[in-house]
Amino acid sequence: MDNLDKIVEEACQAFAAVTQAADLEQAKTRYLGKSGILTAQMKLLGGLPAADRPAAGSRINQARDAISHALESRRQSLRAEALALQLAAEALDVGLPGRGIATGGLHPVTLARERIEALFASIGFSVAEGPEIETDFYNFTALNIPQDHPARAMHDTFYVDEQHLLRTHTSPVQIHYLEDHPPPLRIIAPGRVYRVDSDATHSPMFHQIEGLWVDETISFAHLKGIVQTFLQQFFERDDLTVRFRPSFFPFTEPSAEMDMSWGDGWLEIGGCGMVHPAVLKHVNIDSEQYQGFAFGMGLERLAMLRYGVTDLRAFFAGDLRFLKQFN
Ligand code: FA5
Ligand code: MG
Repeated sequence: MDNLDKIVEEACQAFAAVTQAADLEQAKTRYLGKSGILTAQMKLLGGLPAADRPAAGSRINQARDAISHALESRRQSLRAEALALQLAAEALDVGLPGRGIATGGLHPVTLARERIEALFASIGFSVAEGPEIETDFYNFTALNIPQDHPARAMHDTFYVDEQHLLRTHTSPVQIHYLEDHPPPLRIIAPGRVYRVDSDATHSPMFHQIEGLWVDETISFAHLKGIVQTFLQQFFERDDLTVRFRPSFFPFTEPSAEMDMSWGDGWLEIGGCGMVHPAVLKHVNIDSEQYQGFAFGMGLERLAMLRYGVTDLRAFFAGDLRFLKQFN
């Protein structure tokens, strides 16, 4: 019994010496475990005279309390040390300047398309869409371009198979829309089109924006007014004028090519005309009752002029130095 103080002291030293929680638990077992040092002391009680046992037992319990207390305080200090280490290792300097988040931007062709959609929406036009893989019928036949018509040769067409092709213009959307919607109606139809074509002003994939207004009293004057007003608003230039040059499209009659004034000269921006009666007939609309105008403009052409881009191919090269200028 005399060595109890010494046991407590040794236990305290053993606890202080460990640096890992697991080692501390091992030390605990050595002193407080079932076959530990204090249990051995308890077993010695039986050998003492009965009168001495309570006092001795009480001393052992005091020693056990002291050791338990030392164990608990070492546990806490080990935990605090571990936490301090972790905090030091994971320290975050919130005063450091951030890396910055690079945000994307809309593509200039998308910017132009959204601007055009908003302008036409403001005068009551809906936006329509159609498939990029078309049948021969929608891309040509329904637009009054029958099988052996020479106008087919003007469109250098990518064919998918005998009956399917990549649409060469957005005009087939006219047919899809007219099939499903009785007049009066007015729509624009922006989208991708494809032609076997490639140089500084022609790309094999480009965008057109189709316009169509069918009603009982629509005339060429409406076409002229709408297109001119649209271009003035798109370019924010009231002095801008439009010139209509007689031309030919099988699906319009009369037909014209639209040029707009630019600098000292004129720039072609698309084709247009009054919807051909044969087209209306294909979709069962009485051309005696209804007339309409249609136009198709090159979207890249409009975007190039608005944003001062000189090479059409820059739109599709995916060069971030170019694209980032539009953020
Ligand atoms: C047509 O595609 C007719 N569908 C337009 C039309 C619609 C006429 C409705 C009448 C009624 P065109 O082939 O001229 O027409 O093309 C129209 C515009 O698309 C051109 O003025 C030009 O701005 C643009 N374009 C044509 N080919 C390319 C190309 N390879 N790359 C970029 N833009 C092109
Ligand atoms: Mg043309």
